[in-house]
Amino acid sequence: MSKKTVLSGIQPSGSPTLGNYVGALKNWALLQGEDRYCYYCVANLHALTVKQDPQDLHRRSFETAALLLACGVDPEVSTVFIQSDVKEHAELSWVLSCHTPLGELNRMTQFKDKSAKHADNINAGLYTYPVLMASDILLYQSDLVPVGADQKQHLELARNIAIRFNNTVGETFKVPEPYIPRVGARIMSLQDPTQKMSKSDPNPSGCIAIMDDPAVILKKFKRAVTDCDNSIAFDMENKPGVSNLLTIFSVFTGKTIEESVAYFEGMGYGQLKTAVAEAVIAELTPLRERFDELLKNGDYIKAVLKTGAEKARETALSTLKDVYAHVGLYLS
Ligand code: TRP
Repeated sequence: MSKKTVLSGIQPSGSPTLGNYVGALKNWALLQGEDRYCYYCVANLHALTVKQDPQDLHRRSFETAALLLACGVDPEVSTVFIQSDVKEHAELSWVLSCHTPLGELNRMTQFKDKSAKHADNINAGLYTYPVLMASDILLYQSDLVPVGADQKQHLELARNIAIRFNNTVGETFKVPEPYIPRVGARIMSLQDPTQKMSKSDPNPSGCIAIMDDPAVILKKFKRAVTDCDNSIAFDMENKPGVSNLLTIFSVFTGKTIEESVAYFEGMGYGQLKTAVAEAVIAELTPLRERFDELLKNGDYIKAVLKTGAEKARETALSTLKDVYAHVGLYLS
C-alpha cells in the first residue's frame, strides 16, 4: 500500500486553546505512523490577515513550533516547518487565486465572521486566505487534512480548486479528504456553550489555554456554566454546558460519551466539573513541562525548522514546477 500524506497547519496565535488542542494538535501526534508522511506547518502567513506586532508574531511562530513538538509531533517522523520558510506557498497561492471564482470566496462564513469582528481591517488577505490554505494543502499532494470543524468549509474549497484545476488545466493535484475527529471537533466556551471556545471570549473564564496553570484550569472548570436540573446527560440542544463538559471528559479520558455518562451516574455537577478539570490537567501538565524544556533549547528548535523547511521545499517545489508548466509560466 502506498504511503498517505497528511498535512495540517496552525496559526501562531498567542495562546492556543483547549479547542485548538482537541480539534487539531492532539490528532497531529496520533496520525503519525510509518504508513504516512506528515507535514505540519506553522501558518504565519495566515496570521498576517489580522494586525500583528512583528516581534510578537516572530516569537509566537517559534513557540508554536515548540508547542507542536511538546504535543508529541516527532520531527524524526514528521516534517515540521514554518510557512514563510517555504516560499512556494505564497507563489502557488497567486496562481490558484487566479483560478478561484469570487463567488466561492463570498460563501466563506469565516470571512463574514472575521470581517464583522475586525471591521477596521477588512483586507484582501482576509478574503483570499482560503486560497492560501488550499495552496498549503495542495502543494504536498495531501490525502488527509486533520482540521477542526470550523475549517471544513475551507477544505471543501481546496477540494473544489483542485478538482477544477485538474479538469480544466491538467491533472496536477491530489484531491484531499478532511479528517475531522469524531468526538470533540468543537469545544465550546465554558461560559457560553452555544459559542465555540475562543481566545476572544468576552469572559476569560470561558476559554482554557493549553498553557494555563493547573489552578487556573480548575477554577475555570468550576465556574463553567451548566443548567439547573443537576442531571448529567448528553443533550447538545437542551444541556449545552453539561454536554460540552462530557465531550471534554470523553476526549481526555478516551471513554465514549455513553461510558462517560455512565461514569457520572449518581454524581452532581460539582463532581463532573472537578473530574473534567483533573483529566485535562493530567494531560496538559506534562505537555507544558516539555514545552518549557524545549524552549530552553532554542538551537534545537531552529535546527528542526531548518531541516523541516528543506524537506518541505523539495516536495513543494516539485508541485509548483508542475503547476507553472501547466499554466505556461516561464522558469529558467
Ligand atoms: N486556517 C487554519 C486555522 O486557522 C490553519 C491552517 C492554515 C491550516 N493552513 C492550513 C489547516 C492547512 C489545515 C491545512 O485553523
